[in-house]
Amino acid sequence: MRVLVACEFSGVVRRAFRVLGHNAWSCDLLPAEDGSPHHFRNDVRRVIDFDWDILIAHPPCTHLAVSGARWFKDKQQEQVEALDFVRELLDAPIPHIALENPISIISSHIRKPDQIIQPWMFGHGETKATCLWLKNLPKLVPTNIVDGREARVHKMPPGPDRWKERSRTFEGIAAAMAAQWGAYVADQMKVAA
Ligand SMILES: C[S@@+](CC[C@H](N)C(=O)[O-])C[C@H]1O[C@@H](n2cnc3c(N)ncnc32)[C@H](O)[C@@H]1O
Repeated sequence: MRVLVACEFSGVVRRAFRVLGHNAWSCDLLPAEDGSPHHFRNDVRRVIDFDWDILIAHPPCTHLAVSGARWFKDKQQEQVEALDFVRELLDAPIPHIALENPISIISSHIRKPDQIIQPWMFGHGETKATCLWLKNLPKLVPTNIVDGREARVHKMPPGPDRWKERSRTFEGIAAAMAAQWGAYVADQMKVAA
């Protein structure tokens, strides 16, 4: 199965799919943090029509997240562009699509998410509401509900890489995506064959 993980520098989702035998590639304007050869350092719009079976997209939330609402009046053009990028990803010519973002204005400008998940549903004792917009994919089933409701991001020290730590996908969520959506898409491909 050909998997494109858009807007991913960390390789967390890419690796979760590759471990299960899928032909997964990440794409980001930044280099792959793990130095993987299975990474496009590029604008994802340049590789989006390479005949993928599934797209998992993590577009930037800087101008979209409701947590930044106090800055909204100063960045209307940036918001228009960020929403256009989200629309392009959701309209990509790929049969199965998941797009992930925090609670954001995507809900009011495009549509409400299909699901809101938390890291504590997937083995991490932390809170971080993560919305999923899904196209031809089932909702994720929690794999390991754990105690602990810490908001780790608020404790991170300031610094140039803080945004990377805040935006890195949780391993447990990536493993669930690969196991559940990988199996679902494989079944759909068998039915279609
Ligand atoms: C919120 S972060 C997602 C990080 C991701 N969860 C991970 O674990 O690597 C958004 C990423 O989108 C990338 N990005 C922004 N515009 C892009 C574009 N047009 N094509 C590819 N990547 C892009 C940024 O460089 C940034 O790394």
